[in-house]
Amino acid sequence: MNKGSIVLALLFVFASCQSTSKKTIVKDEKTMLTKEQIKIQQTVADNIVIAHRGMPYHCPESTLPSYILAREIGADYLEADIQRTKDGVLVVFHDDDLKRTTNVVSVFPNRANEPISSFTLEELQKLDVGSWFNTADPERSRTTYEGLKIITLVGLIDIARQGINKPGLYLETKKANQYPGIEKDLFDVLTQSDWLASNNHNKCNLILQTFEKSSLPLLNQYFPETPKLFLLWKDDIPNFDSTAFKTWVTFGAENGAQFIGPSINGEITNYHDLMEPWMIEIYQQAGLRIHAYTFDTPKDLDLYANKMNGCFTNRADLLLDFRDIAHPEIDSTLERFGY
Ligand code: G3P
Ligand code: CA
Repeated sequence: MNKGSIVLALLFVFASCQSTSKKTIVKDEKTMLTKEQIKIQQTVADNIVIAHRGMPYHCPESTLPSYILAREIGADYLEADIQRTKDGVLVVFHDDDLKRTTNVVSVFPNRANEPISSFTLEELQKLDVGSWFNTADPERSRTTYEGLKIITLVGLIDIARQGINKPGLYLETKKANQYPGIEKDLFDVLTQSDWLASNNHNKCNLILQTFEKSSLPLLNQYFPETPKLFLLWKDDIPNFDSTAFKTWVTFGAENGAQFIGPSINGEITNYHDLMEPWMIEIYQQAGLRIHAYTFDTPKDLDLYANKMNGCFTNRADLLLDFRDIAHPEIDSTLERFGY
């Protein structure tokens, strides 16, 4: 055998190994999903209670007491928006800037309009993320909320791990296009903290979500076996009509999502209603299960409960009541944890 033939033979063996190591994609006959996606979908229970930013009706959103309370009352998942500091730390925070829920105006008066990504973790930790709540909602205010700090993803993982209930995490790559590489950062933190390895496939401990078309395939690349939800916002869909809507939803199904996250026209939020019957038909044809957002009132639960498989709620206690699931009382639980 001459040198050329040996090289060719080696290349052939290498190519064969590559093709056999690749997973064969088998489509489900009835939906747009693959068999693998269906298998992953089934690891998430039906009717899950997703504590949206923790318990923001009772506590400042996305803070330690907010998530401790959600865990203690028995929410299935702690929902959190993940962003990245200037020095590369993943933190839990919803808004683009710090004005609404912190005292950034008094601590950094010249930087109040800057995005969270322009602050280091040390700078962010100088901010009070609790006092605004006491002003906004005097009825539920507590002096112990004053001086609360922004929490990191690692901090959120610690909260989820403690206590008797073991809620899963439902993490959103928020404004992912502002944070190139955040999907890998998320993978690294969840791996280093052993959160991925400790997954129990009977009660999946992690679901990922994004509004962004650019982020979903990247989440799928780093987390192929983790359930993923594609969030919907009507104004993101150009030239909105039924065809454009179906194409948008199909993108989710074809890029790794097993779940779809439509908004509801809730009594408090007044978002677009993306749960009209023709829209639900599109989700069902695609094979996507529905986790809708955001629920604040029993009336909305009544309206939508039978049309979805899980819901993001600012009042997990109301949803548990709605399902006749007993839970600890709010005030005494907060007091037990020093709030
Ligand atoms: O993640 C579900 C819901 O949280 C999406 O809306 O703006 O509250 O993150 P938003
Ligand atoms: Ca969110």
